[in-house]
This record gives sequence, C-alpha cells and structure tokens, in this order.
Amino acid sequence: MKITVSRNGPYIVTGKVPLIVSEICDDEEGYCRDWLEVKRYPLKERYALCRCGHSKNKPFCDGTHTKIHFDGTETGDYKPYTEGVNIISGPVLTLTDNKHLCVHAEFCLRAGGIWKLVRQSDDPEARNTAIEEARNCPSGRLVILDNATEKAIEPELEKSIVVVEYPPRDEHGPLWVRGGIPIESADGKKYEIRNRVTLCRCGKSKNKPFCDGSHIER
Ligand code: FES
Repeated sequence: MKITVSRNGPYIVTGKVPLIVSEICDDEEGYCRDWLEVKRYPLKERYALCRCGHSKNKPFCDGTHTKIHFDGTETGDYKPYTEGVNIISGPVLTLTDNKHLCVHAEFCLRAGGIWKLVRQSDDPEARNTAIEEARNCPSGRLVILDNATEKAIEPELEKSIVVVEYPPRDEHGPLWVRGGIPIESADGKKYEIRNRVTLCRCGKSKNKPFCDGSHIER
C-alpha cells in the first residue's frame, strides 16, 4: 500500500487501500466524542483522490486541478514527529504534542482537555479519557506514552484512508491516513510513516500535503 502525491494533482493510491467515509460525532455537551463509519467504497487496486478541493466527483479526482491551475506545492517538512514536540508529564502518562500537525478535530477538549487530564493521570477516569482523546486525534498531533513502559499507547488502526466529515459544523475535513501507509512526495521523497496522518483535500493548506485546518472557515 502506498500514497503518492502527484505534482499539482491528486493523491495516487495503490495497493487496494480501503476507502471509508466517517463522521465525527459530538457528545450531548457538544464535544467531539467518536467516529461513525457511514460509507465504505468497493476495494480498488488504484485510485486518485482529489487534493485541490474542486473535483465534482469527490473524493475522487476528475481532472479539474488542471483547469484551475492548482498549485499543490509541498511545503510540509520531513522532520520526524518528535522534533519540536511539547512534553507534558503526568504521574502515570506523558503527552507529546506537536502543534504543527493540528487539524482542529478537537477531540482533545472534552473533560477539561487532554493536557489537564494527563496531569491528573493517577486518576483512572482521567487516564482513560486522556488515552481515548489521543487515540481519536486523527493527525497524530497528540501521542500518549505510558510512563511505566515509556511506550506510546497507539490504537490498532486498519490500514485505510478515511474521508473525514463533521456534519454538526458542516465541515469537510481531511483525508485521515490510518495504520502507517507510506506517503511519498511528488519528488519521490518519503514522509515519516506514522499511525495517524491527515492529508489536505481542500487545496488550502499551507503545510501540503498535510492538513493544517484551513478547511475550517470561522
Ligand atoms: S486534484 Fe484532481 S480534481 Fe482535485
């Protein structure tokens, strides 16, 4: 399985990568809480996903990028996740936070926020909520580590691409690349393989090919 960024064009996906549409669901207080799979496309060996944001056949590319002269220049860096992270240490858990990767999915705000929960992680409820919030963070900005093992507590994710939708706010989010699928730039360089990665599909990100939350109009 592989995703290749094409120059000023779509993502070329190869190797029968499952393609899913999922919605972010709120809890009763309006905080982002969970994911709901609403569609699964038939498996295909190869397909092209729009990254300019203008296809009439989303999530697939329909060639519109050439008509609009899409500038898909990649400015995302190749540095490892761990470079530039803030580290928040709690009694049982540690949080690493790479703000540069934020896509504003906002799973991290519930119950006082993951930063506070980690500092209270000797409380089982706070600990479990912090782990759940990090697990749901699609971009992988937030990673929780177990202090006892010093290992990341990562969810087991099916290798797949999820088209993120957020109906309560009428937002059309990024492509959530799950399970460590390799992503290669148009120049043939390899981005760091991570379990949770979000790719821009609106064409507006300043951190292409990665999403930077620019799809959100506030
Ligand atoms: S990248 Fe081809 S239509 Fe958007």
